[in-house]
Amino acid sequence: MTTIYYLSAAGNSLYAAKRIKQALTADGDTTELIAMKSVLQGKAARPSSKRIGLVMPLHFFGLPLLAEEFIRSFDWQETDYIFTVITCGWHYMSYALHSVNELLQQQGRTLQAGFYIDMLSIYLPLNDIPAAAKKEQRLQKADTKIDIAAQKIIQSQKHRDHEYLQLLSRGFHTYVKKKRQGLDKVFQATEECTGCAICEKICPTGNISLIDGKAPLWHHNCTQCLACLHNCPNQAIELGKWTKGKQRYRHPGIALHELV
Ligand SMILES: Cc1cc2nc3c(=O)[nH]c(=O)nc-3n(C[C@H](O)[C@H](O)[C@H](O)COP(=O)(O)O)c2cc1C
Repeated sequence: MTTIYYLSAAGNSLYAAKRIKQALTADGDTTELIAMKSVLQGKAARPSSKRIGLVMPLHFFGLPLLAEEFIRSFDWQETDYIFTVITCGWHYMSYALHSVNELLQQQGRTLQAGFYIDMLSIYLPLNDIPAAAKKEQRLQKADTKIDIAAQKIIQSQKHRDHEYLQLLSRGFHTYVKKKRQGLDKVFQATEECTGCAICEKICPTGNISLIDGKAPLWHHNCTQCLACLHNCPNQAIELGKWTKGKQRYRHPGIALHELV
């Protein structure tokens, strides 16, 4: 029995979690997928299993804030094998696996296996979504890496992908974390907004509400996961001027309703 807890804004991590589940199930395991946000919002139980996986994106070279909160609040005592899969654009500057291990050590546990899966970065202020052919190529390459990780997990192998520039990553991540309260001041809805409320429903921290059932309002408890921006059906959400005219993204293997 395996439980995989995932966090995902544009579907990359959910896709990886589903693919790992598929491999474990084919091997005869009973695998359950649970959204970390449902647990944190009190909408789902947090069953403990002998094997537990955490699948989530890399945020500013480290762990997403919600993942950190999840790991801290979880009781790890009944678990024998803990694995973590971090999806990202480019993992060479990072310390997320190190962070997971540190948090587990606070409960006397360690991370048995940790993997980075380079997919593509959804952080539009710093990059664009690549053109279709390149996107497909990157996602195919990611599939191979996910499958290799899944086989190691099936065999309960120990594994840790290397992390470069850990100290620098930690410094930058800590700096951004301190600034988080005001991070959403630059979000805005354009005239394309129809008040469909997908943004309100998809936000993992419940940070968005619609004013008079129309335009969204952000309440300054944002983790900048960009779920609202990428999943808006009308592309009506912008992050300042940095996202204007840029293509939005959801992993082609994931439907909107799976993330909401
Ligand atoms: C706030 C934020 C920060 C990010 N920081 C990094 C980073 O430091 N390095 C990186 O390679 N990708 C970074 N990314 C890209 C994501 O890690 C990547 O696109 C991930 O696969 C998204 O997964 P999801 O769709 O499951 O949320 C960042 C994305 C966001 C939204």
